[in-house]
Parts: sequence; C-alpha cells; structure tokens
Amino acid sequence: MSDDLTIHDILIKDLPKHEAKTVRIKGWLYNRRHKGKLAFLVVRDGSQMCQATVFKGDVTEEVFELCAQKLTQESSIIVEGVVRADQRAPLGFEISVKNVVAVQIAQEYPIQPKEHGVDFLMNKRHLWLRSSKQWAMMQIRNEFLKATRDFFYDNDFTCIDAPIFTPSACEGTTNLFEVTYFEDKAYLSQSGQLYMEAAAMAMGKVYCLGPTFRSEKSKTRRHLTEFWMIEPEVAYATLDDIMVLAENYVSYAVGRVVEKCRPHLEILERDITKLENIKAPFYRLSYDDAVKYLKEKGMPFEYGNDLGAPDETAISENYDRPVFIHRYPTACKAFYMAPDPEKPHLALCADLIAPEGYGEIIGGSQRADDIDYLLKKIAEHKLPAEIFDWYLDLRKYGSVPHSGFGLGIERTLSWICKVPHVRECIPFPRLMERIYP
Ligand code: 4AD
Ligand code: MG
Repeated sequence: MSDDLTIHDILIKDLPKHEAKTVRIKGWLYNRRHKGKLAFLVVRDGSQMCQATVFKGDVTEEVFELCAQKLTQESSIIVEGVVRADQRAPLGFEISVKNVVAVQIAQEYPIQPKEHGVDFLMNKRHLWLRSSKQWAMMQIRNEFLKATRDFFYDNDFTCIDAPIFTPSACEGTTNLFEVTYFEDKAYLSQSGQLYMEAAAMAMGKVYCLGPTFRSEKSKTRRHLTEFWMIEPEVAYATLDDIMVLAENYVSYAVGRVVEKCRPHLEILERDITKLENIKAPFYRLSYDDAVKYLKEKGMPFEYGNDLGAPDETAISENYDRPVFIHRYPTACKAFYMAPDPEKPHLALCADLIAPEGYGEIIGGSQRADDIDYLLKKIAEHKLPAEIFDWYLDLRKYGSVPHSGFGLGIERTLSWICKVPHVRECIPFPRLMERIYP
C-alpha cells in the first residue's frame, strides 16, 4: 500500500483507523529508549498511548538528537509519522516517525517510573493524573457517569439539579459542613434527596447527580468529605421497585464499563470475569438474617446497630454479586424512612453491599408519607421543624408512596477498579486531612 501524504490530525486511540496514513499526534513523552540508529518514544495524548519509532535515516540530525538525547519525561511534543501495523503494540499499531517538534522540554519530572509513597503522589495529584493507572481510572469514571446518565434518560427520568447550599441536614447533623451565608449560616448539601422528593411529585421519575459533602471525621478508605452521588427518586414506587431499579442500573453501568473500558481495566489488572458476572437480579438478605449470620460467625455485633465495614465485608464474602440488606431498625437510620407496616420497628430501606469487601455503595428507602410520623421523627432527631415546612407540604398536597436511593460514585468505582481507597477514584480528592491541590 502506498503512503497517503495528507497529514491527518488524530487522537492516538484512532490509530487503527489510519493504517499507512501520515498522522500528526499532539501529546507528551511518557517514556523514551534509544539504541543505535533507533529511538523509541512512548507518547500519550490523553486518549491512549502508543510507541513512535524514530529511525535515524528518516529524520534530520537535529530531530534524531532531540528524540535520542534531549527529550525529557513529560516534554510536550508534536509527532508526525506513518501508521504501521505492529502485532506487539498495545493498539496493534505504531508510528514510524518523520518529524518531532518539541513544544516544551519539561524540567526534571517529579514522578519517576518507580514506587512513590501515596502522600507524595497525592501532593502531586495535578501531575499524578497523567500516570497510566490514574488515567485509566478517570476514563472508567467518565464511562460510568455517561452510562449512568444514559440509563436514567432511557428510562424516562428527568435530571433535576439539587442545590448545594441548604438550610438543613438530610443525613443527620453530626457531619454537616457549615458555611457563612451573608449574615446567616447554611450547610453544604449532604444529599439532594429531599429536593428530589419534591421534584418527583412534579416530574414522576427524577434524579440528581452531583457533589455532596460530609465532614466525616473518619480516615477510612471509604470516606471522602466531598463525593459524588446519583440519587434517583420515583413517585408511586415501593422499596421493592427501587431495589429492582438499583440492580438494573448497577448491572447496566458495570456492563458498559466492561464493554467500553477493557484496555483501561487491563491497565489496572482488574479480573474482568468478576465484573462480567454482575447481572441482575442481585441477592437480598434481611437485616435480621444478616445479624443472625454475623452472630453465627462469632462477630461482636449488637442487634439494632447499623452495620460497620467489617460486618459488610464478612457478609459480602458469601456472594459473587452485590447483595441488598433490607429492613434495618428505624432507630439506626435517617428520619425520612417509612416504617414497615408489618414490623414498625423496621424501616423499609435497603443498602446495597458490593462484592470483594467494598462495602455499602447504595443507601435507599421508601419514604415516610404519614405527616405525623415524620413530625415525630424530626423531633426525635432534634432537627429544626420549621425548616422542614416545605418538605412536609409534600405530604399535604397529593402525597403518594415514593422511594429512591443514592449511589456513591467513588465507592462504586473503587470496587469496579479494585483499588483499595476511594481517593484515587475522584480527580481531586477532598479528605479530612487534604484539600491540596
Ligand atoms: O447512605 P447514604 O448516606 O444515603 C443518602 O444520602 C440518601 N439520602 C440517598 C437517597 O436515598 N437519595 O449515602 C448514599 C451513598 C452511600 O451508600 C455511599 O456509597 C456514598 O453515598 N457515601 C460516601 N461516599 C464517599 N464518602 C463518604 N463520606 C460517603 N458517605 C456516603
Ligand atoms: Mg448509608
């Protein structure tokens, strides 16, 4: 095949579509080797990485010297060359270089291809994002979020953006971030749920997807102070209905990641068969049975408490797919949950526990629709009743049974990517002891 001389500006991921064409890639140098008359550049452009081979006879002397000697790690470069099939290359293709232009020769790059401590890397998060595993995780996050929006759009949900400044707590008062709001104070949203309940009465099926804030004083691998949550809310839906919605959504979104992000999962050395197995229906276990199981295992657990991380891990070990734990005691859950009419000390709620020890990724429930019950709960939780006036209006004007849930994006991604800590699953993590960069 003769070479086509037009230069095509392309993304590296599209190399396979340009065999034998002359292309131009705008990117950065990831790595470099040099052997006699050959220099091998590993170039990344954000879409993918590829090898660009420079043969001394094909380029000017200056360009060869640049490629063999001068280019430093992370120098910004524009590479022109011909796309050649190469079975050994990750994309099946590489570039035979005709010319390289250095846009900037990078100073000595602080992140070297060796082990660095996490603290060091977190301080260099603005650069660490360029490393291949971090890059792969952000690509997976992108696909997961797009799949999330597609799923809810295709299922007739309306996206309703919830406010971030709020006058009150939704998930309890212990982890609220207070901010000055002119002469007054406000709180950063812990959850968009209460607003979604209002919107569900207007639109039927709604969701919000955005950042939420909790001043968690816990330094665990599952906690961020700023995390993203998808919160669907459905009018006329029962607890059972939203468990079905949740399992269909999670299996769809995981399926999309498996379909579209295979190379990224491979970079992370993720066992993809484990993810291929994530298909609805998921398992269902009552809180009472979960407690029985923990007691049988000899775990120190007191009936009535919420499940802790070690409890969730012990339970998830029995399952190859996520498991719903439903009907926790009302006493350990939020004020807005509906009581089970058959056992009023239990709430019509469910948490979804991810496999492989990743713990709770979803919290959801049917919402209490009895106004007197809600007033009692608001008082019990010592919440300021006057601020919930608007919320209680929803129980006065055409109240219907309704349910919803919240899925933590980073918790879910840490499971999908099988990374130990949620902090790598968000571009710029906010933790109790980190707000830089
Ligand atoms: O169980 P939670 O607190 O539920 C709610 O906020 C409900 N209002 C949601 C709803 O029904 N609309 O939080 C939901 C999920 C958790 O299961 C977890 O995945 C995630 O949000 N999450 C966190 N993720 C990272 N860091 C934290 N500090 C988190 N707290 C909760
Ligand atoms: Mg929860």
